[in-house]
Amino acid sequence: MESPRVGITILALVACASIVGGFAGWRMRQHGPAPSGPTASQTQPALSASKDILRATYDPIHFKPAIETARDDQCLACHREVLEDKVSEASPAGLKAATSKAWYQRLSTYSGEQETFHRRHLATAMAKELMSLSCNTCHQGHDPRDEAQQTSATGALQSDNGFTLRKVVNVETTCLKCHGQMNSKVMGLPHPWPESREVFGGSCLTCHAAIRTTRHQVTYLKAAEIEAAGQKNADVCYACHGGLAWYRISYRYPRHFWEGMSLETPDWAKDRPTVSEARFALPASVQRGY
Ligand code: HEC
Ligand code: HEC
Ligand code: HEC
Ligand code: HEC
Ligand code: HEC
Repeated sequence: MESPRVGITILALVACASIVGGFAGWRMRQHGPAPSGPTASQTQPALSASKDILRATYDPIHFKPAIETARDDQCLACHREVLEDKVSEASPAGLKAATSKAWYQRLSTYSGEQETFHRRHLATAMAKELMSLSCNTCHQGHDPRDEAQQTSATGALQSDNGFTLRKVVNVETTCLKCHGQMNSKVMGLPHPWPESREVFGGSCLTCHAAIRTTRHQVTYLKAAEIEAAGQKNADVCYACHGGLAWYRISYRYPRHFWEGMSLETPDWAKDRPTVSEARFALPASVQRGY
Protein backbone atom coordinates (compact mmCIF):
# COMPACT_ATOMS: atom_id res chain seq x y z
CA MET A 1 0.00 0.00 0.00
CA GLU A 2 2.98 2.29 0.52
CA SER A 3 4.37 2.53 -3.00
CA PRO A 4 1.20 3.59 -4.92
CA ARG A 5 0.77 6.50 -2.47
CA VAL A 6 4.35 7.62 -3.01
CA GLY A 7 3.75 7.33 -6.74
CA ILE A 8 0.65 9.51 -6.51
CA THR A 9 2.46 12.08 -4.39
CA ILE A 10 5.27 12.29 -6.92
CA LEU A 11 2.80 12.65 -9.76
CA ALA A 12 1.03 15.44 -7.89
CA LEU A 13 4.33 17.22 -7.27
CA VAL A 14 5.31 16.98 -10.92
CA ALA A 15 1.92 18.37 -11.91
CA CYS A 16 2.31 21.28 -9.47
CA ALA A 17 5.82 22.01 -10.68
CA SER A 18 4.74 22.15 -14.29
CA ILE A 19 1.84 24.46 -13.46
CA VAL A 20 4.16 26.77 -11.51
CA GLY A 21 6.74 26.56 -14.28
CA GLY A 22 4.13 27.30 -16.87
CA PHE A 23 2.96 30.27 -14.84
CA ALA A 24 6.48 31.63 -14.57
CA GLY A 25 6.90 31.26 -18.30
CA TRP A 26 3.64 33.10 -18.86
CA ARG A 27 4.80 35.92 -16.54
CA MET A 28 8.09 36.17 -18.46
CA ARG A 29 6.21 36.56 -21.70
CA GLN A 30 3.96 39.20 -20.17
CA HIS A 31 6.80 41.33 -18.80
CA GLY A 32 9.78 40.50 -20.97
CA PRO A 33 9.97 41.23 -24.67
CA ALA A 34 6.98 39.34 -26.09
CA PRO A 35 7.27 37.87 -29.61
CA SER A 36 4.83 40.46 -30.95
CA GLY A 37 6.68 43.24 -29.06
CA PRO A 38 5.44 46.58 -27.78
CA THR A 39 4.91 49.29 -30.35
CA ALA A 40 7.74 51.69 -31.18
CA SER A 41 6.00 54.53 -29.35
CA GLN A 42 5.96 52.45 -26.14
CA THR A 43 9.75 51.91 -26.06
CA GLN A 44 10.69 55.40 -27.20
CA PRO A 45 10.57 57.36 -23.91
CA ALA A 46 12.78 54.95 -21.93
CA LEU A 47 15.26 54.66 -24.76
CA SER A 48 15.70 58.38 -25.32
CA ALA A 49 15.95 59.09 -21.57
CA SER A 50 18.85 56.65 -21.28
CA LYS A 51 20.51 58.18 -24.33
CA ASP A 52 20.18 61.64 -22.83
CA ILE A 53 21.79 60.70 -19.52
CA LEU A 54 24.66 59.14 -21.42
CA ARG A 55 24.98 62.24 -23.56
CA ALA A 56 24.93 64.45 -20.45
CA THR A 57 27.49 62.24 -18.68
CA TYR A 58 29.79 62.81 -21.64
CA ASP A 59 28.87 66.47 -22.10
CA PRO A 60 32.11 68.13 -23.28
CA ILE A 61 31.88 70.58 -20.38
CA HIS A 62 33.19 67.77 -18.14
CA PHE A 63 36.51 67.56 -19.92
CA LYS A 64 39.46 69.65 -20.99
CA PRO A 65 39.54 72.13 -22.55
CA ALA A 66 35.89 73.16 -21.91
CA ILE A 67 36.02 72.58 -18.14
CA GLU A 68 38.86 75.06 -17.74
CA THR A 69 36.60 77.99 -18.60
CA ALA A 70 33.27 76.57 -17.37
CA ARG A 71 31.25 78.82 -15.10
CA ASP A 72 29.59 77.45 -11.94
CA ASP A 73 26.10 78.23 -13.23
CA GLN A 74 26.74 76.02 -16.25
CA CYS A 75 27.58 73.06 -14.00
CA LEU A 76 24.74 73.83 -11.62
CA ALA A 77 22.24 73.74 -14.45
CA CYS A 78 22.52 69.94 -14.23
CA HIS A 79 24.00 69.50 -10.74
CA ARG A 80 21.77 71.53 -8.44
CA GLU A 81 21.97 68.75 -5.88
CA VAL A 82 25.56 69.73 -5.19
CA LEU A 83 24.45 72.90 -3.44
CA GLU A 84 20.91 71.97 -2.45
CA ASP A 85 21.29 68.60 -0.76
CA LYS A 86 21.32 68.71 3.02
CA VAL A 87 22.63 66.08 5.41
CA SER A 88 20.05 64.08 7.37
CA GLU A 89 19.13 65.49 10.75
CA ALA A 90 19.54 62.10 12.37
CA SER A 91 20.96 58.72 11.43
CA PRO A 92 18.55 55.77 10.99
CA ALA A 93 19.53 54.69 14.50
CA GLY A 94 18.48 58.09 15.84
CA LEU A 95 21.87 59.75 16.42
CA LYS A 96 21.42 63.48 15.88
CA ALA A 97 23.81 65.13 13.42
CA ALA A 98 23.92 68.24 15.61
CA THR A 99 25.36 66.30 18.55
CA SER A 100 27.80 64.19 16.52
CA LYS A 101 30.69 66.55 15.90
CA ALA A 102 33.87 65.10 14.41
CA TRP A 103 37.33 66.23 15.55
CA TYR A 104 37.61 68.59 12.59
CA GLN A 105 34.37 70.25 13.55
CA ARG A 106 35.74 71.37 16.90
CA LEU A 107 38.04 74.16 15.74
CA SER A 108 36.66 77.55 16.79
CA THR A 109 36.12 78.53 13.15
CA TYR A 110 33.43 75.88 12.68
CA SER A 111 29.91 77.27 12.70
CA GLY A 112 26.37 76.41 11.70
CA GLU A 113 24.69 73.09 11.19
CA GLN A 114 26.26 69.98 9.72
CA GLU A 115 26.60 70.52 5.99
CA THR A 116 27.63 68.51 2.98
CA PHE A 117 31.20 68.56 1.73
CA HIS A 118 30.33 70.79 -1.22
CA ARG A 119 28.36 73.30 0.86
CA ARG A 120 31.25 73.61 3.35
CA HIS A 121 33.46 74.80 0.50
CA LEU A 122 30.99 76.89 -1.43
CA ALA A 123 28.06 78.02 0.64
CA THR A 124 28.75 78.22 4.40
CA ALA A 125 29.75 81.39 6.27
CA MET A 126 33.48 80.65 6.40
CA ALA A 127 33.59 79.53 2.77
CA LYS A 128 31.93 82.72 1.61
CA GLU A 129 33.95 85.03 3.83
CA LEU A 130 37.43 83.73 3.01
CA MET A 131 37.28 81.74 -0.19
CA SER A 132 35.80 81.94 -3.64
CA LEU A 133 36.15 78.39 -4.87
CA SER A 134 34.56 77.42 -8.17
CA CYS A 135 33.61 74.00 -9.43
CA ASN A 136 36.69 73.98 -11.63
CA THR A 137 39.06 74.98 -8.82
CA CYS A 138 38.81 71.30 -7.87
CA HIS A 139 37.21 69.64 -10.89
CA GLN A 140 39.47 69.58 -13.93
CA GLY A 141 37.90 66.66 -15.71
CA HIS A 142 37.47 62.99 -14.88
CA ASP A 143 36.88 59.73 -16.73
CA PRO A 144 33.30 58.47 -16.44
CA ARG A 145 34.19 55.07 -17.88
CA ASP A 146 37.15 53.74 -15.92
CA GLU A 147 38.07 56.62 -13.62
CA ALA A 148 41.62 56.16 -14.90
CA GLN A 149 43.75 57.89 -17.52
CA GLN A 150 44.12 56.44 -21.01
CA THR A 151 42.35 53.12 -20.65
CA SER A 152 40.77 53.82 -24.02
CA ALA A 153 41.69 55.80 -27.11
CA THR A 154 39.09 58.43 -26.26
CA GLY A 155 39.88 58.75 -22.54
CA ALA A 156 41.96 61.39 -20.79
CA LEU A 157 45.65 61.31 -21.73
CA GLN A 158 48.18 59.69 -19.42
CA SER A 159 49.76 63.12 -18.98
CA ASP A 160 46.49 64.58 -17.68
CA ASN A 161 46.91 65.26 -13.96
CA GLY A 162 43.53 66.90 -13.50
CA PHE A 163 42.43 63.85 -11.51
CA THR A 164 44.07 60.84 -9.95
CA LEU A 165 43.15 57.16 -10.17
CA ARG A 166 39.57 56.39 -9.07
CA LYS A 167 38.92 59.98 -8.06
CA VAL A 168 37.13 62.88 -9.69
CA VAL A 169 39.79 65.41 -8.61
CA ASN A 170 43.52 65.56 -7.99
CA VAL A 171 43.79 65.64 -4.22
CA GLU A 172 47.51 66.48 -4.07
CA THR A 173 47.11 69.65 -6.08
CA THR A 174 43.82 70.77 -4.53
CA CYS A 175 42.88 69.41 -1.10
CA LEU A 176 46.44 69.28 0.20
CA LYS A 177 46.73 73.06 -0.18
CA CYS A 178 44.34 73.58 2.73
CA HIS A 179 44.34 70.19 4.46
CA GLY A 180 48.04 69.35 4.85
CA GLN A 181 50.11 69.29 8.03
CA MET A 182 51.53 72.55 9.36
CA ASN A 183 55.21 72.54 8.50
CA SER A 184 56.45 73.55 11.95
CA LYS A 185 59.97 72.41 11.07
CA VAL A 186 60.61 75.12 8.46
CA MET A 187 59.04 77.64 10.82
CA GLY A 188 61.45 76.72 13.59
CA LEU A 189 58.59 76.05 16.01
CA PRO A 190 59.79 74.02 19.00
CA HIS A 191 56.55 71.98 19.11
CA PRO A 192 53.43 71.51 17.01
CA TRP A 193 51.23 74.61 16.96
CA PRO A 194 48.72 73.62 19.68
CA GLU A 195 51.62 73.41 22.15
CA SER A 196 53.65 76.34 20.76
CA ARG A 197 50.89 78.84 20.29
CA GLU A 198 51.00 80.32 23.82
CA VAL A 199 54.73 81.07 23.47
CA PHE A 200 54.01 83.06 20.31
CA GLY A 201 51.17 85.10 21.73
CA GLY A 202 48.52 82.86 20.25
CA SER A 203 48.98 84.37 16.81
CA CYS A 204 50.65 83.34 13.58
CA LEU A 205 51.13 87.03 12.85
CA THR A 206 53.71 87.37 15.63
CA CYS A 207 56.05 86.04 12.95
CA HIS A 208 54.00 86.38 9.80
CA ALA A 209 53.55 90.15 10.01
CA ALA A 210 57.12 90.18 8.61
CA ILE A 211 57.69 86.72 7.10
CA ARG A 212 56.28 85.39 3.79
CA THR A 213 54.00 88.40 3.56
CA THR A 214 53.25 87.98 -0.15
CA ARG A 215 50.51 85.42 0.27
CA HIS A 216 47.08 84.31 -0.91
CA GLN A 217 47.31 86.17 -4.22
CA VAL A 218 45.15 83.65 -6.02
CA THR A 219 41.70 83.72 -7.58
CA TYR A 220 40.11 81.27 -5.14
CA LEU A 221 41.09 83.07 -1.91
CA LYS A 222 40.07 86.43 -0.45
CA ALA A 223 43.47 87.65 0.74
CA ALA A 224 42.40 90.81 2.58
CA GLU A 225 39.53 89.10 4.39
CA ILE A 226 41.84 86.26 5.45
CA GLU A 227 44.31 88.69 7.04
CA ALA A 228 41.55 90.58 8.85
CA ALA A 229 40.03 87.36 10.18
CA GLY A 230 43.45 85.89 11.08
CA GLN A 231 44.23 88.93 13.19
CA LYS A 232 41.17 88.30 15.33
CA ASN A 233 41.55 84.52 15.58
CA ALA A 234 44.66 82.48 14.77
CA ASP A 235 42.47 79.41 14.24
CA VAL A 236 41.47 81.01 10.94
CA CYS A 237 45.05 80.64 9.67
CA TYR A 238 45.42 77.28 11.36
CA ALA A 239 42.20 75.99 9.72
CA CYS A 240 43.90 75.92 6.32
CA HIS A 241 47.42 75.27 7.57
CA GLY A 242 47.24 72.18 9.79
CA GLY A 243 44.08 72.45 11.86
CA LEU A 244 42.04 70.34 9.41
CA ALA A 245 44.81 68.09 8.16
CA TRP A 246 43.61 64.97 6.38
CA TYR A 247 47.15 64.18 5.26
CA ARG A 248 50.38 63.31 7.05
CA ILE A 249 52.38 65.47 4.67
CA SER A 250 52.52 69.23 4.10
CA TYR A 251 51.78 71.05 0.89
CA ARG A 252 54.84 72.46 -0.83
CA TYR A 253 53.73 76.08 -0.98
CA PRO A 254 55.28 78.37 -3.53
CA ARG A 255 57.73 80.71 -1.85
CA HIS A 256 57.02 84.22 -3.06
CA PHE A 257 59.45 87.07 -2.76
CA TRP A 258 58.63 89.27 0.22
CA GLU A 259 59.92 92.63 1.49
CA GLY A 260 62.88 91.96 3.77
CA MET A 261 63.45 88.41 2.58
CA SER A 262 67.01 87.09 2.94
CA LEU A 263 68.51 86.64 -0.51
CA GLU A 264 69.99 83.31 0.47
CA THR A 265 67.55 80.46 -0.17
CA PRO A 266 67.48 77.81 2.56
CA ASP A 267 68.12 74.25 1.34
CA TRP A 268 64.56 73.04 1.93
CA ALA A 269 63.24 75.79 -0.33
CA LYS A 270 65.65 75.34 -3.25
CA ASP A 271 63.21 73.36 -5.39
CA ARG A 272 60.11 75.32 -4.45
CA PRO A 273 58.23 77.30 -7.09
CA THR A 274 58.33 81.06 -6.51
CA VAL A 275 54.89 81.83 -7.92
CA SER A 276 51.41 80.37 -7.51
CA GLU A 277 49.98 77.97 -10.08
CA ALA A 278 49.35 79.85 -13.31
CA ARG A 279 45.72 78.83 -13.53
CA PHE A 280 44.96 80.70 -10.32
CA ALA A 281 46.98 83.83 -11.10
CA LEU A 282 45.28 87.15 -10.43
CA PRO A 283 45.51 89.83 -13.08
CA ALA A 284 48.49 92.06 -12.21
CA SER A 285 46.21 95.03 -11.52
CA VAL A 286 44.43 93.18 -8.71
CA GLN A 287 47.58 91.98 -6.92
CA ARG A 288 48.15 93.59 -3.57
CA GLY A 289 50.16 93.05 -0.44
CA TYR A 290 48.00 91.77 2.37
C1 HEC B 1 24.18 68.58 -19.39
C2 HEC B 1 24.14 68.31 -17.99
C3 HEC B 1 25.47 68.37 -17.23
C4 HEC B 1 26.34 69.45 -17.13
C5 HEC B 1 26.20 70.82 -17.79
C6 HEC B 1 27.38 69.05 -16.24
N1 HEC B 1 27.18 67.75 -15.82
FE1 HEC B 1 28.36 66.66 -14.61
N2 HEC B 1 27.31 65.00 -14.97
C7 HEC B 1 26.12 64.96 -15.66
C8 HEC B 1 25.63 63.58 -15.68
C9 HEC B 1 24.34 63.09 -16.30
C10 HEC B 1 26.59 62.81 -14.98
C11 HEC B 1 26.55 61.31 -14.70
C12 HEC B 1 25.82 61.08 -13.43
C13 HEC B 1 25.85 59.64 -13.02
O1 HEC B 1 26.51 58.81 -13.66
O2 HEC B 1 25.21 59.37 -12.01
C14 HEC B 1 27.63 63.74 -14.56
C15 HEC B 1 28.72 63.36 -13.80
C16 HEC B 1 29.59 64.27 -13.19
C17 HEC B 1 30.63 63.92 -12.27
C18 HEC B 1 31.05 62.51 -11.90
C19 HEC B 1 30.25 61.88 -10.87
C20 HEC B 1 30.83 60.54 -10.51
O3 HEC B 1 30.60 60.16 -9.37
O4 HEC B 1 31.48 59.90 -11.35
C21 HEC B 1 31.24 65.08 -11.87
C22 HEC B 1 32.40 65.23 -10.89
C23 HEC B 1 30.58 66.15 -12.57
N3 HEC B 1 29.59 65.63 -13.36
C24 HEC B 1 30.93 67.47 -12.44
C25 HEC B 1 30.48 68.46 -13.30
C26 HEC B 1 31.07 69.78 -13.39
C27 HEC B 1 32.20 70.29 -12.53
C28 HEC B 1 30.38 70.46 -14.37
C29 HEC B 1 30.67 71.85 -14.90
C30 HEC B 1 32.03 72.05 -15.39
C31 HEC B 1 29.35 69.55 -14.88
N4 HEC B 1 29.46 68.35 -14.21
C32 HEC B 1 28.43 69.87 -15.85
C33 HEC B 1 25.48 66.04 -16.24
C34 HEC B 1 26.04 67.30 -16.41
C1 HEC C 1 36.77 71.72 -2.77
C2 HEC C 1 36.81 71.03 -4.05
C3 HEC C 1 35.50 70.90 -4.82
C4 HEC C 1 34.72 71.90 -5.30
C5 HEC C 1 34.91 73.40 -5.12
C6 HEC C 1 33.64 71.27 -6.01
N1 HEC C 1 33.76 69.91 -5.95
FE1 HEC C 1 32.48 68.52 -6.73
N2 HEC C 1 33.51 67.04 -5.83
C7 HEC C 1 34.71 67.19 -5.18
C8 HEC C 1 35.15 65.89 -4.69
C9 HEC C 1 36.42 65.61 -3.92
C10 HEC C 1 34.14 64.96 -5.09
C11 HEC C 1 34.09 63.47 -4.82
C12 HEC C 1 33.25 63.21 -3.62
C13 HEC C 1 33.06 61.76 -3.40
O1 HEC C 1 33.72 60.94 -4.04
O2 HEC C 1 32.21 61.46 -2.58
C14 HEC C 1 33.15 65.71 -5.82
C15 HEC C 1 32.02 65.14 -6.40
C16 HEC C 1 31.19 65.80 -7.28
C17 HEC C 1 30.12 65.20 -8.02
C18 HEC C 1 29.71 63.73 -7.98
C19 HEC C 1 28.50 63.53 -7.11
C20 HEC C 1 28.73 63.77 -5.67
O3 HEC C 1 28.06 64.67 -5.10
O4 HEC C 1 29.56 63.09 -5.06
C21 HEC C 1 29.53 66.17 -8.75
C22 HEC C 1 28.35 66.02 -9.68
C23 HEC C 1 30.24 67.41 -8.46
N3 HEC C 1 31.24 67.15 -7.56
C24 HEC C 1 29.95 68.63 -9.00
C25 HEC C 1 30.46 69.84 -8.55
C26 HEC C 1 29.94 71.14 -8.96
C27 HEC C 1 28.81 71.36 -9.94
C28 HEC C 1 30.68 72.08 -8.30
C29 HEC C 1 30.52 73.60 -8.33
C30 HEC C 1 29.21 74.12 -7.95
C31 HEC C 1 31.66 71.37 -7.47
N4 HEC C 1 31.48 70.02 -7.65
C32 HEC C 1 32.62 71.96 -6.65
C33 HEC C 1 35.41 68.38 -4.98
C34 HEC C 1 34.91 69.64 -5.25
C1 HEC D 1 41.15 76.75 -0.40
C2 HEC D 1 41.12 75.90 0.75
C3 HEC D 1 40.46 74.55 0.68
C4 HEC D 1 40.59 73.58 -0.30
C5 HEC D 1 41.35 73.68 -1.62
C6 HEC D 1 39.87 72.42 0.18
N1 HEC D 1 39.32 72.68 1.40
FE1 HEC D 1 38.25 71.38 2.54
N2 HEC D 1 37.87 72.87 3.88
C7 HEC D 1 38.40 74.14 3.84
C8 HEC D 1 37.89 74.91 4.95
C9 HEC D 1 38.23 76.36 5.27
C10 HEC D 1 37.01 74.05 5.67
C11 HEC D 1 36.20 74.40 6.92
C12 HEC D 1 34.91 75.04 6.53
C13 HEC D 1 34.06 75.39 7.72
O1 HEC D 1 34.42 75.09 8.85
O2 HEC D 1 33.00 75.96 7.48
C14 HEC D 1 37.04 72.78 4.97
C15 HEC D 1 36.33 71.67 5.38
C16 HEC D 1 36.46 70.41 4.83
C17 HEC D 1 35.81 69.22 5.33
C18 HEC D 1 34.92 69.12 6.55
C19 HEC D 1 33.48 69.32 6.16
C20 HEC D 1 32.53 69.31 7.33
O3 HEC D 1 31.40 68.92 7.13
O4 HEC D 1 32.88 69.69 8.43
C21 HEC D 1 36.20 68.19 4.50
C22 HEC D 1 35.79 66.75 4.63
C23 HEC D 1 37.07 68.74 3.49
N3 HEC D 1 37.22 70.08 3.72
C24 HEC D 1 37.66 68.02 2.46
C25 HEC D 1 38.32 68.58 1.37
C26 HEC D 1 38.74 67.85 0.21
C27 HEC D 1 38.56 66.36 0.01
C28 HEC D 1 39.29 68.76 -0.64
C29 HEC D 1 39.85 68.53 -2.03
C30 HEC D 1 38.93 68.01 -3.01
C31 HEC D 1 39.25 70.06 0.01
N4 HEC D 1 38.63 69.90 1.22
C32 HEC D 1 39.77 71.22 -0.52
C33 HEC D 1 39.29 74.62 2.90
C34 HEC D 1 39.65 73.97 1.73
C1 HEC E 1 58.09 81.44 15.21
C2 HEC E 1 57.59 82.20 14.10
C3 HEC E 1 56.41 81.59 13.34
C4 HEC E 1 55.14 81.33 13.79
C5 HEC E 1 54.58 81.57 15.16
C6 HEC E 1 54.41 80.82 12.64
N1 HEC E 1 55.25 80.76 11.55
FE1 HEC E 1 54.74 80.12 9.69
N2 HEC E 1 56.66 80.36 9.08
C7 HEC E 1 57.70 80.85 9.85
C8 HEC E 1 58.94 80.80 9.09
C9 HEC E 1 60.31 81.24 9.60
C10 HEC E 1 58.60 80.24 7.83
C11 HEC E 1 59.55 79.93 6.68
C12 HEC E 1 60.03 81.23 6.06
C13 HEC E 1 60.84 81.00 4.80
O1 HEC E 1 60.24 80.69 3.77
O2 HEC E 1 62.05 81.17 4.83
C14 HEC E 1 57.17 79.99 7.84
C15 HEC E 1 56.46 79.44 6.79
C16 HEC E 1 55.08 79.27 6.78
C17 HEC E 1 54.33 78.75 5.68
C18 HEC E 1 54.90 78.26 4.38
C19 HEC E 1 55.44 76.87 4.59
C20 HEC E 1 56.13 76.29 3.40
O3 HEC E 1 56.32 75.08 3.41
O4 HEC E 1 56.48 77.01 2.46
C21 HEC E 1 53.03 78.75 6.05
C22 HEC E 1 51.86 78.27 5.22
C23 HEC E 1 52.96 79.25 7.40
N3 HEC E 1 54.22 79.56 7.82
C24 HEC E 1 51.78 79.39 8.11
C25 HEC E 1 51.75 79.66 9.48
C26 HEC E 1 50.54 79.63 10.27
C27 HEC E 1 49.17 79.37 9.72
C28 HEC E 1 50.90 79.91 11.56
C29 HEC E 1 50.00 79.94 12.78
C30 HEC E 1 49.11 78.81 12.97
C31 HEC E 1 52.34 80.13 11.57
N4 HEC E 1 52.81 79.95 10.30
C32 HEC E 1 53.08 80.47 12.68
C33 HEC E 1 57.58 81.32 11.13
C34 HEC E 1 56.47 81.21 11.94
C1 HEC F 1 41.01 79.49 3.29
C2 HEC F 1 42.28 78.87 3.47
C3 HEC F 1 43.45 79.69 4.00
C4 HEC F 1 43.47 80.49 5.10
C5 HEC F 1 42.31 80.85 6.02
C6 HEC F 1 44.84 80.94 5.25
N1 HEC F 1 45.61 80.42 4.25
FE1 HEC F 1 47.58 80.71 3.98
N2 HEC F 1 47.51 79.76 2.20
C7 HEC F 1 46.41 79.11 1.71
C8 HEC F 1 46.71 78.59 0.39
C9 HEC F 1 45.78 77.78 -0.49
C10 HEC F 1 48.03 78.99 0.09
C11 HEC F 1 48.81 78.73 -1.21
C12 HEC F 1 48.41 79.76 -2.24
C13 HEC F 1 49.31 79.75 -3.45
O1 HEC F 1 49.40 78.72 -4.12
O2 HEC F 1 49.96 80.77 -3.70
C14 HEC F 1 48.51 79.71 1.27
C15 HEC F 1 49.80 80.21 1.40
C16 HEC F 1 50.30 80.75 2.60
C17 HEC F 1 51.68 81.08 2.84
C18 HEC F 1 52.83 80.92 1.83
C19 HEC F 1 53.11 82.30 1.22
C20 HEC F 1 53.94 82.29 -0.03
O3 HEC F 1 55.16 82.49 0.03
O4 HEC F 1 53.35 82.09 -1.11
C21 HEC F 1 51.77 81.59 4.11
C22 HEC F 1 53.00 82.09 4.82
C23 HEC F 1 50.43 81.55 4.66
N3 HEC F 1 49.57 81.03 3.71
C24 HEC F 1 50.11 82.00 5.92
C25 HEC F 1 48.80 82.19 6.36
C26 HEC F 1 48.44 82.98 7.50
C27 HEC F 1 49.39 83.70 8.42
C28 HEC F 1 47.06 82.95 7.59
C29 HEC F 1 46.16 83.69 8.55
C30 HEC F 1 46.28 85.13 8.53
C31 HEC F 1 46.60 82.11 6.50
N4 HEC F 1 47.68 81.68 5.78
C32 HEC F 1 45.27 81.78 6.27
C33 HEC F 1 45.20 78.95 2.34
C34 HEC F 1 44.79 79.65 3.46
